[in-house]
Amino acid sequence: AQHIVIAIDGPAGAGKSTIGKLLAAQLGALYIDTGAMYRTVALKGFRLGVIHPSDPPEPLNPEQEARLSEIARTTAITLAGDPFHLQVFADNEDVSEDIRLPVVSRYASIVSAIAGVRSALVAQQRRMGAEGTVVMDGRDIGTHVFPDADVKFFLDASVETRTERRYAEQRARGVDCTREQTRLDVLERDRRDYNRAIAPLRRADDAIWLDTSSLSPEEVLQKMLAFIQERL
Ligand code: C5P
Repeated sequence: AQHIVIAIDGPAGAGKSTIGKLLAAQLGALYIDTGAMYRTVALKGFRLGVIHPSDPPEPLNPEQEARLSEIARTTAITLAGDPFHLQVFADNEDVSEDIRLPVVSRYASIVSAIAGVRSALVAQQRRMGAEGTVVMDGRDIGTHVFPDADVKFFLDASVETRTERRYAEQRARGVDCTREQTRLDVLERDRRDYNRAIAPLRRADDAIWLDTSSLSPEEVLQKMLAFIQERL
């Protein structure tokens, strides 16, 4: 069988994971949520007392950065299950729920700017991508992790749409938050992801750009399948 890599990048709430899962199921591919890996490092940082959450977040000092890089190097992060029941394990502990907390989202984008964290996780992502046909979602998959990916997508949507999706998702999880808080979190995370020094969020020159604001997941999926057929 052919070994294919499909990269999906874009900002928070653009629909990457919803679509990535549908696409992986359709193609019989492995779905790899790289954001879950950055989230896991941030969560472990809280648990081990390396990060002390504050609002607004304090910048991390070099010692914290070194310890977080060590966490990224030494934690066995595994993604298991089928695309629709994805489970994330950190050293055999199921962290699938906890990594979705808003405070973890916020700190994941701070932790993800650390060079040592990125190099450790990118190495793992490249190993995972070598195992078979994969759909990998993140911020730097098409630009950095797999610059030679077979097909690259960049999903985007208006801030309003992305806020609405995140808000609905959080409410469904029982997280207590307001629309305005969610909007500010989304904007703050975008700002950090687009502006960091290492592998910032950017559309690869050869990525197919799709605005999902007024499209249903099924419509986005059909467009992507058409592009994939054309390119492969
Ligand atoms: O995709 P998700 O929202 O779960 O990602 C959480 C955070 O992890 C992002 O805001 C981003 O800072 C970071 N991330 C990254 N590179 C990736 C995937 C996620 O920097 N490939």
